[in-house]
Amino acid sequence: MDISKFRKDFPLLNSDDNPTYLDSACMTLRPQVVIDALTDYYTNYPACGGRSVHKLSWQVTENFEIARDQIRRFMGAEKPTEIVFTKNATEGMNIVANGLNLKNGDKVLTSDKEHNANVVPWHHLSKYKGIKYEVLAAKDNYYFDLEALKEKITSDTKLVSFVHTSNLDGHTNPAKEIIEICHDKGVKVMMDAAQSAPHKEVNVVDLDVDFAAVSAHKFCGPSGMGALYGKYEELEKLIPTYVGGSTVVNSSYDDYKLLPPPSCFEAGLQDYAGAIGSGVAADYVMGVGRDNIREHENKLNTIMSNKLKDLEGISIVGPEDVSQRGGIFSFNIEGWDPTEVAMHLDEKYNIAIRSGMHCVHSWFNSRGIEGTARASAYLYNNESDIRKFTDAIEETLSS
Ligand code: ALA
Repeated sequence: MDISKFRKDFPLLNSDDNPTYLDSACMTLRPQVVIDALTDYYTNYPACGGRSVHKLSWQVTENFEIARDQIRRFMGAEKPTEIVFTKNATEGMNIVANGLNLKNGDKVLTSDKEHNANVVPWHHLSKYKGIKYEVLAAKDNYYFDLEALKEKITSDTKLVSFVHTSNLDGHTNPAKEIIEICHDKGVKVMMDAAQSAPHKEVNVVDLDVDFAAVSAHKFCGPSGMGALYGKYEELEKLIPTYVGGSTVVNSSYDDYKLLPPPSCFEAGLQDYAGAIGSGVAADYVMGVGRDNIREHENKLNTIMSNKLKDLEGISIVGPEDVSQRGGIFSFNIEGWDPTEVAMHLDEKYNIAIRSGMHCVHSWFNSRGIEGTARASAYLYNNESDIRKFTDAIEETLSS
């Protein structure tokens, strides 16, 4: 993979005093093609899609649907109508959580390493609708327990919702096996693909998953955009949470008739630039090749891990085997608060990483850990970035 070629595509990396950016698990940088797509919309056809009949409006509608098809390819879906534009993965998962119309006593299962997007909606439904929310403990702290899943699924289980790749430690759960177990028992499955699809090939048809959600800002797209994939027949069964303009065929003082999916989930005027930019971003990432990205990130993580893992005072959170941690290096330095580590790297070395609980509060709280500092790589990081990071950590430890 020619990283220097890709680095040229990202304006921030070519600016004076550019930071060493190792916070892509939180938000990726955007290449010029994505920025150009946003500017192009606002400059040349800043109109409303799907309503007016002038040329500008047709152009918006056409590019909005081209973007939907680009996201379809990114997810490996069969039909563009199975892709709903959302604000982010969180919104996608809420659309499913609320749309399933779960009742008192219905059970939802998740893993124990879920982002708040896949924890809080279930607590919320438990509080207001009386659903049962249960959490499946990992094996050896980090590995999904397939046998426990089989036992935990009972006749009242309506959904298993799990994170594909963890944003906490980069570990990828065995999606295909999880989905097969659930389907054998007649249970639907949702997958949080926010941290997987940007970094590895994900094919929803091959996985046979019922729902999967992504956020565009994690694959070089605009912030405030995401997508929800749902098998068409599953989307048809969901009750839309938000309805209004764009979601109806017609309405009167007495009644309304909703449009079929995906339109019935896309209420109100849409973020056209955001959707179009997301499609361009998906194309960009597919152009680089997600197998290449996965390999590259893990190579960088191997360098970081080998250099730092045995240093006194460093502890890594996640599986010991670096090949199980993708491009994420989550760590602590003894005697340091993780946020102090992140601030120190930023101020002294111009290195951007993230710190805290990474929205996976439940995992940290259950273990009494304050959080971690987290360096995360993407397609534009090179070995020099990694060297700057490891040198800075070594210097910090010896100071
Ligand atoms: N969940 C995002 C992260 O891991 C924001 O940083």
